Amino acid sequence: MTLEYRPLTDDDLEQAVVVESTAFYNKPTPERLEQLREFFPPDWTVGAFVDGRLVADVRTIPMARRINGSATPFGAIGPVACLSAYRRQGHVGKLLRLALERMREQGIPLSGLFTPHDALYARFGWERSEARKQYYLRPSDIRLRVKGAPGVIESVAPDDWGRLDAIYRRYAGPRNGPLHRVEPWWRQNVLRHYDEMTAGLGDNDAFVWKSANREDEGYVSYYSRAMPRTDRYAPWEVLVRDFVSLSGDAYLGLWRHLLAHDIATRLAVHLPVEDPFADLVEDPRKIELPRAEGPMIRVVDIERALSRRPFVGSRPASFSIRVSDPSAPWNEGVWRVEAGEGQVQVERKGDEADVELNAGTLAPLYTGFMRPDVAAGVGLMKVNRPEALEDMREAFAVTHPAYSNDWY
Ligand SMILES: CC(C)(COP(=O)(O)OP(=O)(O)OC[C@H]1O[C@@H](n2cnc3c(N)ncnc32)[C@H](O)[C@@H]1OP(=O)(O)O)[C@@H](O)C(=O)NCCC(=O)NCCS
Repeated sequence: MTLEYRPLTDDDLEQAVVVESTAFYNKPTPERLEQLREFFPPDWTVGAFVDGRLVADVRTIPMARRINGSATPFGAIGPVACLSAYRRQGHVGKLLRLALERMREQGIPLSGLFTPHDALYARFGWERSEARKQYYLRPSDIRLRVKGAPGVIESVAPDDWGRLDAIYRRYAGPRNGPLHRVEPWWRQNVLRHYDEMTAGLGDNDAFVWKSANREDEGYVSYYSRAMPRTDRYAPWEVLVRDFVSLSGDAYLGLWRHLLAHDIATRLAVHLPVEDPFADLVEDPRKIELPRAEGPMIRVVDIERALSRRPFVGSRPASFSIRVSDPSAPWNEGVWRVEAGEGQVQVERKGDEADVELNAGTLAPLYTGFMRPDVAAGVGLMKVNRPEALEDMREAFAVTHPAYSNDWY
């Protein structure tokens, strides 16, 4: 038996469609192959080959993630797939390590993924590092208590994606978590959705909210799908893919638009954790807030990730950390971090460290998802010099809680 782990070539794409579709219980269709050829250069994906046949693959989409008013190159991982007969043999683990090496070589210091298999990725250093708030509600049950200034809702066609992008850029610029979007991302990911019924992509509806001064101040993109029938009426669910507002009036105007979907049984909306929508309505108890998860993130290259991250703390800070990272050994060791005047400097130094942690704990600190004292308080860090925690808190300060309205 021969075993090989390597980036795909054009000749492997047909097999990739089979592996990815089969693993996710879909059908390998010609459209999928066409999509793969059009949007994903083959070497974004690494594959495991057994006797020359592709059995597993991992794709990394190069993007950029905002933090503290700047962008950091970001590898969005997905899909990750292995044919069932080859699972639990370590192929995906090897591919994840290979993807890490390649990201480091390409100068991508940060990576993220959405998954139902936290334990798998936690083994390789990805950790939950962003939150999101999920709302489920029946639109006809909900009335807003707050009234905004009137505006106009305008439908936007996919070819006008640039109009949405202009709003998104203003929104994303200062925030922590949004990804830089390119045209294919808008068209294929934000303005379309995967439809299980047709095993293809369906179009979303998109609307802009315009103020009385004719300024575009927000937008939503959403789609509807049938839910299992329980009585005479076919229940429908409206799923909001993206909701962005630049003003309070746009926020309320967009909600008002969504709540007008009075025939829908359920409206599903996700927003940042600090969003207070439930407390803006007449009866907050009519809103369900199920557990919702943001992506797991990984610091691929600590030196590059920290030194690219603008410093927004209120005073200079310095500390040292010992990192243990068997899947990305270049991160291992003791690092001295000096933060001040908008910048962070990172260098290898000495043997003694103020705190000791695993790679997995680094990502939630990096994004500001978890405070250093909280990480220490739940046993995620060994603290050798307690005063260092205050300095870490300064160095890891963020302008906004970590939240991305993307899905990959
Ligand atoms: C999830 C999936 C990719 C794992 O592939 P795999 O080749 O079995 O993974 P590996 O054998 O390399 O596993 C690496 C390690 O993770 C563990 N692991 C694998 N899948 C896991 C899971 N679902 N949950 C928890 N741990 C898991 C393995 O036990 C192994 O740990 P070990 O080294 O301590 O033994 C594969 O089962 C699959 O394709 N599933 C269907 C599609 C899917 O869910 N993709 C991922 C979406 S995010």
